[in-house]
Amino acid sequence: METEVALLDDKAGKSALRAALASNLEEAGKLETLINNLFKLTRLEASELEQHFTPVSVSKITSDAMTDTTSRAKTKSIRLVNEVKDATVMGDRTSLTQLLTILLDNAIKYSPDKSEIKITSKRSGSIVVVTVHDQGIGIEPEALRHVFERFYRADAARTRSDASGFGLGLSIAKLIADVHNGSITITSKMGKGTSASLELPVADTKA
Ligand SMILES: Nc1ncnc2c1ncn2[C@@H]1O[C@H](COP(=O)(O)OP(=O)(O)OP(=O)(O)O)[C@@H](O)[C@H]1O
Ligand SMILES: [Mg+2]
Repeated sequence: METEVALLDDKAGKSALRAALASNLEEAGKLETLINNLFKLTRLEASELEQHFTPVSVSKITSDAMTDTTSRAKTKSIRLVNEVKDATVMGDRTSLTQLLTILLDNAIKYSPDKSEIKITSKRSGSIVVVTVHDQGIGIEPEALRHVFERFYRADAARTRSDASGFGLGLSIAKLIADVHNGSITITSKMGKGTSASLELPVADTKA
């Protein structure tokens, strides 16, 4: 509000602008603390969630996450291709769907119009790996090391006016993967695309 008034006022002096900026930074700092505390709470609740895990179909959560993101993909004429073979994992269906939605959301956000996003799965022994492959802008090696940090956004993402965000998606995704004794691995080639893989232990260990 204060910022808005300062920016609207042509005659606002440097000191007024500086004050507005300082107050904004203070607000941002408070929000950051709030969000960090929320993460702590979530982690506590998440450890309780484990007691309520049920068998979850990987195909089902994939198609639910695709349904969640279809309209965003459509506005960019991006083709979503589902090549996931079913497997069962133990988990919280809503959170796992949210995790895949976060990966798909990134794939869509950081990809050019008319590109293709493919979701595949691979079973090896007692684990299943679900991967979202995109043909987007990619992540530089230096940035790749930080993408799971809260509020981190690579330069390439921050400078794009069409790709806004808080830099929280992947930290939430990692939290959900951790609770499920799983992990997320991201590989990327600048200008070529990114692959984000979710690895989970399977519940049905036969075949
Ligand atoms: N598929 C991708 N292609 C290119 N860059 C990516 C991709 N996924 C993540 N990134 C990079 O990692 C950063 C962190 O991703 P994350 O999902 O945590 O945040 P965000 O997408 O910027 O914001 P939010 O998810 O909170 O809306 C992004 O800002 C972007 O720089
Ligand atoms: Mg994101």
